[in-house]
Amino acid sequence: MTGSLDGLRDRLTRRTATVGVIGLGYVGLPQALAFAEAGYQVLGFDIDPAKPEALNAGRSYLLDIPSARVAALVSTGRLAATADFHRLGECDALIVCVPTPLSEHGEPDLSAVSGTSSTLAEYLRPGQLVVLVSTTYPGTTEELVRPILEAGGLVVGRDVALGYSPEREDPGNSRYGFGNTPKLVSGCTDICRELTVLLYEPVVGKVVPVSSTRVAEASKLLENIYRAVNIALVNELKICFDRMGIDVWEVIGAAATKPFGFTPFYPGPGLGGHCIPIDPFYLTWKAREFDLHTRFIELAGEINTAMPEYVVSRLRDALDLRGTTLHGARVLVLGVAYKRDTGDIRESPALRVLSILGRRGAVVSYHDPHVPKLGRSRHYDFDLESVPLTPEVLRGTDAVLIVTDHTSVDYPAVVQHAALVVDSRNATRDISEGREKIVKA
Ligand SMILES: NC(=O)c1ccc[n+]([C@@H]2O[C@H](COP(=O)([O-])OP(=O)(O)OC[C@H]3O[C@@H](n4cnc5c(N)ncnc54)[C@H](O)[C@@H]3O)[C@@H](O)[C@H]2O)c1
Repeated sequence: MTGSLDGLRDRLTRRTATVGVIGLGYVGLPQALAFAEAGYQVLGFDIDPAKPEALNAGRSYLLDIPSARVAALVSTGRLAATADFHRLGECDALIVCVPTPLSEHGEPDLSAVSGTSSTLAEYLRPGQLVVLVSTTYPGTTEELVRPILEAGGLVVGRDVALGYSPEREDPGNSRYGFGNTPKLVSGCTDICRELTVLLYEPVVGKVVPVSSTRVAEASKLLENIYRAVNIALVNELKICFDRMGIDVWEVIGAAATKPFGFTPFYPGPGLGGHCIPIDPFYLTWKAREFDLHTRFIELAGEINTAMPEYVVSRLRDALDLRGTTLHGARVLVLGVAYKRDTGDIRESPALRVLSILGRRGAVVSYHDPHVPKLGRSRHYDFDLESVPLTPEVLRGTDAVLIVTDHTSVDYPAVVQHAALVVDSRNATRDISEGREKIVKA
């Protein structure tokens, strides 16, 4: 039976393998494009039919990816997408990039991973490789995915291969993308790891094989926990230094001149995105099985979660000093994406800020060049449209609250026309005119 995995090895080596990518979002779509550009036949799968429909029509739905790139691959026939999972059997390798959010109670929600695994199990045939990419707790590949795939009688390492290879996608980063970021790869058995290496080697700058899927899963969590904890540290120092009359950003800039032993992290209005606010708690949950508490993670979560409230309290204090109140104040939130130069609002702290402001009676509006509308989402029910950032609009507000520092925004003009600018990102650092109107938060 290893013959079929040998056949797969051969197809991967000769690049004649058909690669399936399940979940065509921020992580899955760049992978699908990279494999198609490297000459593989790629078939993308998504339960949201709008995504295959857009891709097959040559349209991109991600800010970072131009439609022309998609269209070029679709026209050569190397890239196609579908919501029809009966076609899973056409693929030699299947890469799983589905979401791994937290439940309402802050616990891992692996329903997309287990659901996809069950669907895969229905169509799995000897000689296929499945690689889980979604971020998750150590043990998921072996304890959750493997038993589901093996339930029909196929054996991992003998009939089919199973690997885990986390993603390091950094949306908006023009220097590092899928093609030049080293990729951790692992497998449930030696042949599983070998085949996962063979799959990724041609499309990424460097593959880094590790000894087990648990190590690869844990490494991805370490990378994100490291960020969450260090961001919490500077957020706490921001509050502390501010009380002492010291500018935390200047302190970080000064400390960062040390050429060794220091990596700068920057404070902000709170964490956002699908990774940093969520992934650390996958480990917290798993650690409980071992009677352990992940205290650093919990503390970092506590500090980072409190930041939107802190930012609003800075705004309220600044309005107080100007003899006005937050209740009834016209506040324009500048930037609602969780990250500079992206349109991604998942877990964005701006949503919490807007919600807190609304509850406190402020009259809110927002501007974001990448987010034209804010509607209903899992936790919020907004009905807002981005307003243009004109001098009239700025003059018509009591305060502008900078939550996301998009590079296309004209910050000198914002400071010139607004009555008060509360800046949670240090976006106004280089502005000298009108500094008395700026409050760092
Ligand atoms: N976004 C990032 O920067 C990033 C970076 C590294 C790792 N990750 C991890 O990668 C995984 C995917 O994240 P993402 O940001 O691409 O999410 P996303 O929401 O952008 O995309 C996920 C896609 O999967 C689809 N989907 C959901 N359930 C499905 C199912 N059962 N079958 C098929 N498709 C399904 C959704 O419709 C969506 O198109 C997560 O585990 C995330 O933690 C994300």
